[in-house]
Amino acid sequence: MLAQLSVSQFRNIVSAELTPASGINLILGENGSGKTSLLEALFLLAMGRSFRSRALKHLVKKQQQRLTVFARSMDQTPIGLQYDLQSGLLIRLNNAPLKRLSDLAAHLPLQFIPANCHQFFELGPKYRRRMVDWGVFHVEHSFNFHWQSYKKALQQRNAAIRKYKPSNEIALWDTHLVKHGMKITEFRQGYLQQLVKEFLPLFRLLCPELDTASFMLRYQQGWNKETDFAVYLRENIERDRALGYTRSGAHAADWSLKIDDADPYEMLSRGQQKLFFLALSMAQIKLLAAQKEITNSVLLIDDLSSELDWHHQNTVIETLRTLPVQAFISSTNDDLSQLLKADNEKKFHVKHGVISEKVKHAINTNPDIVE
Ligand SMILES: Nc1ncnc2c1ncn2[C@@H]1O[C@H](COP(=O)(O)OP(=O)(O)OP(=O)(O)O)[C@@H](O)[C@H]1O
Ligand SMILES: [Mg+2]
Repeated sequence: MLAQLSVSQFRNIVSAELTPASGINLILGENGSGKTSLLEALFLLAMGRSFRSRALKHLVKKQQQRLTVFARSMDQTPIGLQYDLQSGLLIRLNNAPLKRLSDLAAHLPLQFIPANCHQFFELGPKYRRRMVDWGVFHVEHSFNFHWQSYKKALQQRNAAIRKYKPSNEIALWDTHLVKHGMKITEFRQGYLQQLVKEFLPLFRLLCPELDTASFMLRYQQGWNKETDFAVYLRENIERDRALGYTRSGAHAADWSLKIDDADPYEMLSRGQQKLFFLALSMAQIKLLAAQKEITNSVLLIDDLSSELDWHHQNTVIETLRTLPVQAFISSTNDDLSQLLKADNEKKFHVKHGVISEKVKHAINTNPDIVE
């Protein structure tokens, strides 16, 4: 959760200073004003990467040399990030240079919900793995160790395949892949089962019209479920050599949450698919709070109003109020500010990259006072 934020030379934002609310923050403005850019700056600060550009140079304001994002979390820890076109990325957490990006992610558990999140179950498995791994990373402390070790072993095995090494040399890496891959699989499966439990009541709240639907979690571990991983790797080594890489394993896992035995995109309207994804992200927040007492989550929702009618936008905001989360919600719809009410909620307007805090319209209960 963030108490203070400054962004400079980031896309079309020259310089912005914000004191966000601890609850809901609405980011309102016209197309191209800089709303997504502000969310992107927050995402960069938490993850050390962007959700829309591979190369960070695109994030630096045109004609400028470097961007900076600085924040203070609620416990006053300073987090500073600078990307310079010449010297690259520099991140400081609590005034010390950051050693590992995972330290940053652990400090600021942040999820991003893109405007097109309704396509989540149509996208490649990479996105679904990323979502579950985000959650597992926060609740299982050894997950990062197993994942990094797995990735290293996989790179080595693939390098051996590409160098046409004999099969027995390639298979040297299998023990590591199996050891860490099994652990990763166990973590993911356990986590997903818990996630579905949290998801169901949230989805029913957001989408009561589907409250009789049945849900089933499908997890594909990344290799034939009937076969032991070690045996599977051994038996498929010739196939991997022909392909030039290790095809199966925890890195190829996928999952789905079937609704009445269909994939969400086969069954749900676009708005319902968006609510489905929102409920999954909200379930992650609840799970983190329940399992690890993590109550400083940040949720970025880009363009809440797309695909959702007024009533459902209201339900999303109402539901967010019940969760331990600081939300930044962008929209082109100014009317959304009518939904704000609590003290810990704020609205910001963005125009040509300039961000200003707006006073909420208090509901005037005294007819003698004209605002
Ligand atoms: N490196 C850059 N330097 C300057 N401006 C940039 C840079 N990259 C993108 N922009 C511009 O920044 C502006 C803000 O883009 P952004 O995606 O944040 O808008 P938005 O408010 O989210 O709009 P929409 O409602 O259409 O999603 C756009 O006009 C874009 O062309
Ligand atoms: Mg946008």
